[in-house]
Amino acid sequence: MDYPRTVGELTDALRQCGYLADRGLSTALLVGMSLHRPVLLEGEVGVGKTEAAKAIATTYGKQLIRLQCYEGIDTNQALYEWDYTRQLLHIRALSEHQLADDRAVSALFGPEFLLERPLLAAVRAGSNAVLLIDEIDRADDEFEAFLLEVLSDFQISIPEVGTISADEPPLVILTSNRTRDLHDALKRRCLYHWIGYPSPERETAIVLARQPEIAETLARKVVAAVQHLRKMDLVKPPGVAETIDWARTLAFLGAQDLTEDLARDTLGAVVKDRDDLEMVHDAVREVTSGG
Ligand SMILES: Nc1ncnc2c1ncn2[C@@H]1O[C@H](COP(=O)(O)OP(=O)(O)OP(=O)(O)O)[C@@H](O)[C@H]1O
Ligand SMILES: [Mg+2]
Repeated sequence: MDYPRTVGELTDALRQCGYLADRGLSTALLVGMSLHRPVLLEGEVGVGKTEAAKAIATTYGKQLIRLQCYEGIDTNQALYEWDYTRQLLHIRALSEHQLADDRAVSALFGPEFLLERPLLAAVRAGSNAVLLIDEIDRADDEFEAFLLEVLSDFQISIPEVGTISADEPPLVILTSNRTRDLHDALKRRCLYHWIGYPSPERETAIVLARQPEIAETLARKVVAAVQHLRKMDLVKPPGVAETIDWARTLAFLGAQDLTEDLARDTLGAVVKDRDDLEMVHDAVREVTSGG
């Protein structure tokens, strides 16, 4: 696929891969790709943040390199680690005479024993990759500061090996569910885009793109019901992922319509909290009437 020159071109290309982006998202992605700016996507759960990075990698034939953040992630897990097991086996195979030789020992810290982690892989792959830094809000402040440093020069220094830098940086997409506020410094470096819940029309189109065998009338009903659920005071409001899941469940059951009974039986595809389930059970008539 040719490199996109306009927002429209990018939107069309993503659509061909099954991802429906609105103008704001396509603009952020196009500018990010063209001006080498990281794109920070924030939004509710299941609105297509991670999928946006996957879709852009698939569309433009780039390698998707994913750094999944979690509490306690440290720089080694993001950059590189030494392969201790191989180093140990190598030492065992060396004779005493060889062990006395400094060169044999320093070879233990050569590229052969280096385990590449996502950031190093991304620096090496450069513009052939899309680097997805997923759920950055789960990592701690220190890790965020470290990321900021890597993102500013795309250069990694490994004392034993040397400095590795990217000729052209990869497209970087960061996602956050906003479980905590990110630092201003990181935000300043990025283009920011908030992915909200899609409009009923767009959500219906997403369901039809992902679940083509479902009838359009049923897809519309499912979307209307989900949009109603989002207005209720639920602990876990459903994302687009849940809408698709519900549609898939109904299609599997051969449903032609979203009746109250069918909705009750299949609520588990869309409501994932016990208190929420009870509340929705009581309101299933309003939910399925789309009112
Ligand atoms: N705009 C879209 N076009 C096509 N599919 C979409 C879109 N938005 C969401 N989806 C679908 O919804 C599913 C969930 O999306 P995704 O996992 O990217 O959400 P997320 O925002 O990363 O959620 P989380 O916060 O849980 O990580 C995807 O598998 C994808 O099929
Ligand atoms: Mg995600």
